[in-house]
Amino acid sequence: MISSGAPSAPSAVLVTGAASGIGLACALRLAAAGHGVAMVDRDADGLAGAARRCAERASTAMRISTHAADLTDPAATAAAVNAALTVHTGLYGVVNAAGAVRGGTAVDTTDADWRWNLDTNASSAFYVCRAALPHLVAAGRGAIVNIASLTALRPIPDRAGYAAAKGAVIAFTRQLAYEYGPHGITANTVCPGAIRTPLLAARFDREPAAERDLSARIPLRRMGEPDELAALVVLLVTGGCGYLTGQTITVDGGLSLV
Ligand SMILES: NC(=O)c1ccc[n+]([C@@H]2O[C@H](COP(=O)([O-])OP(=O)(O)OC[C@H]3O[C@@H](n4cnc5c(N)ncnc54)[C@H](O)[C@@H]3O)[C@@H](O)[C@H]2O)c1
Repeated sequence: MISSGAPSAPSAVLVTGAASGIGLACALRLAAAGHGVAMVDRDADGLAGAARRCAERASTAMRISTHAADLTDPAATAAAVNAALTVHTGLYGVVNAAGAVRGGTAVDTTDADWRWNLDTNASSAFYVCRAALPHLVAAGRGAIVNIASLTALRPIPDRAGYAAAKGAVIAFTRQLAYEYGPHGITANTVCPGAIRTPLLAARFDREPAAERDLSARIPLRRMGEPDELAALVVLLVTGGCGYLTGQTITVDGGLSLV
């Protein structure tokens, strides 16, 4: 059942970017595995449809909630996390999957696009963690998974602002692991390679040759599916490898090997 009110649902995992792509795949997997999910995204309509899909998989009533917010706005982000906590009794996991790209080299990236990349991809994760961490600390356990990008580790053209922002996500996550480990909280970064989501599909629908070229360079010879990423994220966030923290894990079909 999708909930927007009564505080009767048990503790949950908060997932950002949950209306689409990797965030949605994580929410679907969590719901299917019986976890409560607080779904956050700026796309309110997409979020409603995504929540209906999760609710169909959820095993228990009152486990899926939705909270529309622009995560580049710190006040709106804090309000979304607090709203989730009016529905669920607590949080034991956070998945920061919200993100997007504005391209450009160091020379042709405008001030506005630089700030937009940092706000959308790095500050958003910071605002969410700042609001959620006191609740994980109070619970004495928790797991944070932040989605960065292979681009932060292995440059591609025209990604000055985006790569810098995702690099900040990696450093921020290591800092979280260091400072909050004593509270029983793990923090890890997952770096996707090329995953077939709306973020990439728009380009490859226009340029099928570009997708063929990219796939030919990937050792597994194909793009990844969002659910293949979500499988790892859910393992990390639900304690399946509870001694793993502060790590940066690439899920890229081997692309980082070439
Ligand atoms: N798809 C890939 O190949 C790939 C590769 C590397 C990294 N990533 C990263 O994975 C994450 C998920 O990307 P995806 O491919 O699923 O993209 P997507 O576009 O399918 O989903 C991203 C979601 O984030 C939401 N979002 C963006 N900015 C937001 C904001 N300011 N406030 C609230 N919500 C916001 C969007 O509305 C969307 O629903 C992103 O951080 C992206 O940078 C993806």
